[in-house]
Amino acid sequence: MKVTVGVSGGIAAYKAVELVRAFQRQALDVHVVMTEAAQRFIQPLTFASLTGHRVITSLWNDGPEEENPASAIEHIDTAISTDALVVAPATANLVAKFAQGLADDFLTTMYLATPAPVVLAPAMNVNMWNHPATQANLRLLEDRGVRIVPPESGQLACGMVGSGRLAETDAILRAVLDVLHRRNDLAGETVLITAGGTRESIDPVRFLGNRSSGKMGYALAEAALRRGAKVVLVSAPTALRPPLGCEVVPVTTTEEMRTAVLGRLPEATIIVKAAAVADYRPVVQAEQKLKRSGPLTIELQPTEDILAEVVQRRREGQLVIGFAAETENALVHGRDKLLRKGADAIVLNDVSREGIGFDSDRNAVTFLTRQTAIEFPEMTKRELADRILEEVMSLRRPQKVVAEQ
Ligand code: PMT
Repeated sequence: MKVTVGVSGGIAAYKAVELVRAFQRQALDVHVVMTEAAQRFIQPLTFASLTGHRVITSLWNDGPEEENPASAIEHIDTAISTDALVVAPATANLVAKFAQGLADDFLTTMYLATPAPVVLAPAMNVNMWNHPATQANLRLLEDRGVRIVPPESGQLACGMVGSGRLAETDAILRAVLDVLHRRNDLAGETVLITAGGTRESIDPVRFLGNRSSGKMGYALAEAALRRGAKVVLVSAPTALRPPLGCEVVPVTTTEEMRTAVLGRLPEATIIVKAAAVADYRPVVQAEQKLKRSGPLTIELQPTEDILAEVVQRRREGQLVIGFAAETENALVHGRDKLLRKGADAIVLNDVSREGIGFDSDRNAVTFLTRQTAIEFPEMTKRELADRILEEVMSLRRPQKVVAEQ
């Protein structure tokens, strides 16, 4: 497997040497890209000698290679052929450029062009690290699926004490091995994901809805795509842009979602029901806008339970994962839903907690199966999506039988 190490211009640039050696010990083919500033701290020759490959230092080739037309698209070739891009150290400037999509040198251009997973190990002065601009840039990148290996705390090169020291080689190595392992582990799977909140019309201008933004479902779609799956995203209305490469089936009502899900069920190997589905619809939908005149009673009838129907119709080998949004006694209600609906697992959200769940970029969940309850602490929905998919894939492996106590 091929790993590209990007080195940007910080005092910790010399530590990238140790990182390159660590990757080589894992039998990875390492290529190095350096920014102009990085070359002020360490010579490209050091990396070229270690890796046996030319170190890429510029978008422009000097010398006779310039005539080679292939060199003009080297960043695209390198970007496409690498299995992971890791930048260590990543300076505040580099982080900002990645976040804003600037492409003014080889490394930043390659970042935009690569479909491979990206790991950033920032290192900088503590005030630069703590600055809201840097933190906002990092959050943006995390939301886009970039894995951040946070710096450590301690004495910094500038003499100050605090966070900013490049993470230990082992921590960066673990993160890279982790993303490499994830790559393509869903190849051959067709993942059917539902997202957002369905809406049931009361009259032509009003509807019954819920607080789901679709962020959790869209994060799952992106994570599954990145891991090589074919993704069908059945999406209730959201303000989100679907990840490039998935097939989107837009729906509004529960009945439309049901038709879309059951229609695509035969081809799906994994079904993840992250949508918040309206449990009731008005018995009568007024043809004209209802006029305000005193108290109003709307009679509701239950909608179809799509998840339960999917479980009933499932064929062998299909994994069915539901979500549950609870506001009290989450574990009890979650377990009840798991057994009642017959899914393989339920991802349980305690939506009474501040700052997570509905419409937040972050979440914390419990992955419930009949045998286990795995707690995932608060993290970005994108990172959580990967953790959930890992648990889903582990259901494919033979399970240890746990004897009842
Ligand atoms: O979209 P976000 O803002 O990112 O928020 C994420 C989320 C909180 C919406 C999501 O993570 C979540 O918890 N989704 C499920 C919410 C929900 O409706 O839970 P529920 O307990 O009502 O339903 C349980 C399961 O049955 C769900 O998988 C649901 O899709 C499914 N269901 C429910 C009712 C119904 N009529 N048909 C169904 O298929």
